[in-house]
Formats: sequence, C-alpha cells, structure tokens
Amino acid sequence: MSEEEAKAAATVPAEKAEKKKKKPPPPPTPAAVATAYLITKTAALGCLGVLESTGTECHVSPFQQTFLKDRALTGKFTLTIRKTAATPAMLADQAWMAEDFFATLNQTLARLVTEEIAMQTFTMTRKDIIDTYGTAVLDESQIPGKKCKIKDEDLLTVACVGQQVLVTVPGTPLAVSNALESCTVDPTQCDWKRLGKKETKVTLKFVATVAETEKEAPVASLLDAPVPKDSLTGGVLTFPEGDNLREGVDAQVAVAAEEAAQVAALAVVSDTAAAAEEEDEEMVVNAFDVKGKIDYTKLVQQFGSQLIDPALMQRLEAVTVGQGRVPFMHRFLRRNTFFSHRDLDTLITNVEKGTPMYLYTGRGPSSAAMHLGHLVPFLFTQWLQQALGCPLVVQMTDDEKFLFKGVYDEKEGDNLNHYAGLTIENAKDIIACEFDFDKTFLFSDLDYVGTMYPNIVRIWKAVTTNTVNGIFGFDGTSNIGKIAFPAIQAAPSFANSFPTVLEANRDSDRLCLIPCAIDQDPYFRMTRDVAHKLVHKKHPLQGKPSLIHSKFFPPLQGATGKMSSSNENSAIFLTDTPQQIHDKIMQHAFSGGQDTKEKQMKFGANLEVDVSYQWLRFFLEDDEELERIGRDYGSGSGEYWSTGKVKARLIALLQELVAAHQERRAKITDDDVRKWMEQRSIVVSK
Ligand code: TRP
Repeated sequence: MSEEEAKAAATVPAEKAEKKKKKPPPPPTPAAVATAYLITKTAALGCLGVLESTGTECHVSPFQQTFLKDRALTGKFTLTIRKTAATPAMLADQAWMAEDFFATLNQTLARLVTEEIAMQTFTMTRKDIIDTYGTAVLDESQIPGKKCKIKDEDLLTVACVGQQVLVTVPGTPLAVSNALESCTVDPTQCDWKRLGKKETKVTLKFVATVAETEKEAPVASLLDAPVPKDSLTGGVLTFPEGDNLREGVDAQVAVAAEEAAQVAALAVVSDTAAAAEEEDEEMVVNAFDVKGKIDYTKLVQQFGSQLIDPALMQRLEAVTVGQGRVPFMHRFLRRNTFFSHRDLDTLITNVEKGTPMYLYTGRGPSSAAMHLGHLVPFLFTQWLQQALGCPLVVQMTDDEKFLFKGVYDEKEGDNLNHYAGLTIENAKDIIACEFDFDKTFLFSDLDYVGTMYPNIVRIWKAVTTNTVNGIFGFDGTSNIGKIAFPAIQAAPSFANSFPTVLEANRDSDRLCLIPCAIDQDPYFRMTRDVAHKLVHKKHPLQGKPSLIHSKFFPPLQGATGKMSSSNENSAIFLTDTPQQIHDKIMQHAFSGGQDTKEKQMKFGANLEVDVSYQWLRFFLEDDEELERIGRDYGSGSGEYWSTGKVKARLIALLQELVAAHQERRAKITDDDVRKWMEQRSIVVSK
C-alpha cells in the first residue's frame, strides 16, 4: 500500500477501508508516461506509414497505464491493422517483419527523444480530424461506431509531435513532459500477430526513463489553438526510418515471392550463406524427410505459421486448466515443445463462445514398433482431449505407407495387408496412451475412406497436380496414389467427414484442431487453402482446421533431425527391455559434456546438444528437478555434474515410463481395437 492509501485507510471505518484497499483510485498519468505514450504511438504509426496508405484501416486501442502495477514508467497499447487492397505489402501479413519493425521503432524513439522534438497539443472536431488525417490517429474509443459516445462535432485533444505527426489524446488531456530521457519498446514484451488473413495486431509496451535532475514540467510549446494543416508536412504520417523499413520489407516480399515460385519441390529450408560458413548440414523439413540442424524460428517463417506467444499461452491456459479438467499446463507447453500454430487464437475465441470442436491427429503405420518420438503427439493429444473435454479422431494412414513404401513381389504379390495389420498393432500403442474411449474414434483409411469420399472428391477437384507436386515434390514418375493421397489426409479436417462419429453434416460449425509435428504442416497448408469450398458460408473459420505444431524429438545420436525407426540404435522402442534402454542410452546418447573430468567441472556441458538432457526435457515432469539437472550439468557441479549422472536419471525415468506403457498395452486385445474403430457417436453431451 502506498503512503497515501495508508493514510486514507486510517481515516475510514474498517469496512470501507476494505473497499478502498481493493480499488484505489487510479493515480493521474505522470506526464512522462503520457509523453512516452504519445511519441511511441506516433513513431509506430509513422514507421508503418499507415496514413500514407489511405486504404489501410488502423485502430489504436485505449492506452493502458501498466505503471499502475509495477510502478515503472511503462504503458501499453495495441494497433489493429486491417488489410485492404491498398495496404502495402509490409502490413499485409508479414509476421517476419516484426523484428525489423521493433528495431526501427526504437531507432525512431531514440531520435525523437534526443532531438527533444517539440510536442504541441490543441483541439479540433472529430470530423475535421477524420477529414484531414483519417481514422488512424484516433483512439479506438473515438472512432465512429455504435458504441462510440463521441459525436462528429465534439472537440478532441490532438497532440502534434514535431511538424509531422498528429495523434489524438484519449480521455482527459494528458500532461506533457520534457524531462523524458529515454523511451524504448522491448520486443520480447511486444507482440506482432496476424489474425486471419485480414488483420494484424501489434501490441506495444514501452518503458520510459526521466532525467533525475530535471523536474517534470510541461513543455513550453503547449498550444491552445490548432496547428494549421499546411504547416504539417502534408498531413502525412511517416518517418524517414519507416521509409527504409518499408523499402526493405518490400524487397523482402519480392524476394520471398520469387523464392516461393522457385522452391517447387521439397520445402528445403536453409540459409545458404550461413551453411557455407559453418558447413552445417542443410536443414531439410518436409512431409517425408527431416535432417540437418533445425532452426525452428526460421522454419516458422518459411512455413508461415505463428509462434505461440505468452498471450496466446494464457488464453490456452484459460480454456484448458481454467475449465478445471486438468490441473496444470502440459510440460510440452511449459517447455515450448509445441511451439507454433495456425489459427489457434481464432479457435480459442470460438471455443469461448461455445462453438463445438474436435481434435484430429494421425499415424502412418510403417512398422510394428513405435518409438518414444512417436509418443509425443499422442501424449499431448491425450492431454488436450482431457483438457478440452472434446472428441478426437485418429487417422491410421495404412494406405499412405503402402503407396510410399509398399512392395510388389512377382511370387508373393503386394504387401498391402501387411500395412493393414500394422494399423492394428500401432492402434494398441495409441490406445495405451489413455484416451477416453467414449470420445475417441480410431480409423484405418483402408476401411473408413468411403465415408470421407465426398470430401475427398471435393478436395481432389479443388487442388491441381501442380500444386501437390510443388508442395510434396512429386513428379510424373510418382505413382498416382501418392498424388491423390494428400486429399485423404486432408479430409478428416472437416467435421462432416464423420456423419455418424461427430454427428456432423455440411451445416456443422464444429471446428478442428490438429496437434502434429511440424513436418505434417504441408498437408494442412494445402487443406486450409481449399477449406472454404467444403463448408457452409458462415463457418467460423471458413472450414480451415487450426494447428498446433511440435518440434522434433531428437535421435539418440544427436539433436538434429528426427528419430527414425529404420536405424535401430537411434531410437528407444516401446518394446525395449530395461536392459536395452540402459545399453542404448549409455552407448549411443550423444553427450554435450566435456571429455575430461577437469574440463567438465570447469566448463560444464552444452545442454543444447546433449541428447540425455534434451530427452529429459520431453519426459521429466518435475520442473524443479529438470532445472536442477540443467543447472548442475551445465555448470559441471552438484549432484548432476556429469554425463553419467544425467544418463542414469534418464535411464531410470524411461525404464519406468516404457514399462508402464507396456503394461497398459499388454491388456489391449484385437477385439478392443475393433471397438475403438467402430463407427459410433463420440459426441457425448456430458
Ligand atoms: N502422415 C502422418 C504420418 O506419416 C499420419 C497422419 C495422418 C497425421 N493424418 C495426420 C499426423 C494428422 C498428424 C496429424 O505419420
């Protein structure tokens, strides 16, 4: 409690004091914060050049004085930019320009502060403001609309920064200070987020400092009369820093467009310059291959998905943990294993409104033995099912594996049945992940495809062979099944592929969320592009499935690429014995530790590349213990100072985990599997 509050509390009866304590009156905005807000807002609008592009709509949310909480000179606000045909490329949907934008914004802020740019305030009617400068200078609460209390003829306070930029001042006029010493935005506290195709939301949090010696005083040039329009630089809201940014981004957009056209085949992601320098193995991520050192940030940029940011994580927490069905967020979320998404925010918004949803994931049964890496999406999906209390469909793509890996033998014939059999074996491992029988439907493509056929045909009609070849790297020599297959993986993204199971027809609004490793994203990019053709016009997401992507589980030999079932020693299988687990980890787990005891104690291990530590991140639930292991091992001191100690911990953990899995799996019969694969409604209204 502040001194003032304490005094106030002392003079009122206890009951009222209680109330007072809960709701202290907001202190007036310090002049320095008001000034910082005004220059941050103008610099942001000026760098983006939103007024220049007359076609762009930009709304600025009301200013929030975050200093109330932490007592620092900080505040935040959000720009909502709506894309129109006239919007320059940089504002369209380039999440990857966010970093450049924040840097440019800070440059501009530094200049404005050091130049002690003049700030002036005056009043003008709203109508005149809109006619002259457009709506972007207005605060969201001032923009004409149903909820807006302000009328056209009302006078608003306008602040003018230098001779260039105008912004309106929300609420009561803010005092302006010339004691500002610095004003910066911290990109890690800010956010650049694309919402759907049309909208970008930029949240800015600024921090200001004031000179200690100078006391806060309003600047001399506070005006009462409007600045004549023609004394402004054409009423154009731009800053020179922004020009560079915009040119840079335009160039990047042009390059990206060219690259996209060239990168026909596999989604090869590599920074050739860096690769040449470091001689790193090239990063390759596509639906069939993952190799090289994976740069996940770059991958997200290349794929055009979004990183899961803290704000989205909070929203996800509210619809999961907040509903009381699970006690806490899954470690895969706490540790950023699931790190990227498409339209997860929009899905949450609709779920909050009560729109029904379901989960869809799958498995290509390529061998009877599943390994630890295969478990990752299913463990997470199981948690999501519980957390969201929703139905789940699991596709077993035995057809895919036959088309890609199947063989034909003159004597024996083909081995299609082999893959059908693997479906049953793999289904047992999936069921052993403890899904909710009443809410889960497992299906084999070979068996269920007929029910999805109308949707498959619609997708075939909407996607050209060139598109599929471009995305997946097929060509004229590929068998026609391969080219047709992506539609079959796409079909379960639409609820009406499950008329019985999800009780859905074409009018259904039921939304789809797909948890998967990021290498599956190409399938769903294709799906999302044609989704609108498969649903009714008012579908909340125009038919698009939402996605949540995981990173890869690293192979034993080193933290690059993903684990493969073909190299026996690169994986721990769900069928391995405790001895096998022990031996594989001891012999093959790549160590980030030093080669001598002395060096290890001096420098500690490189946790990034240490497979044992990375695997613990996937499977050790206890955050505190993980942190301790990381601290000890990374510094070469304490209980877990060495590779041997860390490996021992991992072995014990995995022996326990695999044994528990085997125990659950052993109880599941072929008959049980058949029940999970029976068409029945899994939409339970409980
Ligand atoms: N193609 C995937 C595989 O090879 C299987 C799969 C089908 C899948 N549908 C999916 C994976 C949906 C994730 C989400 O394993």
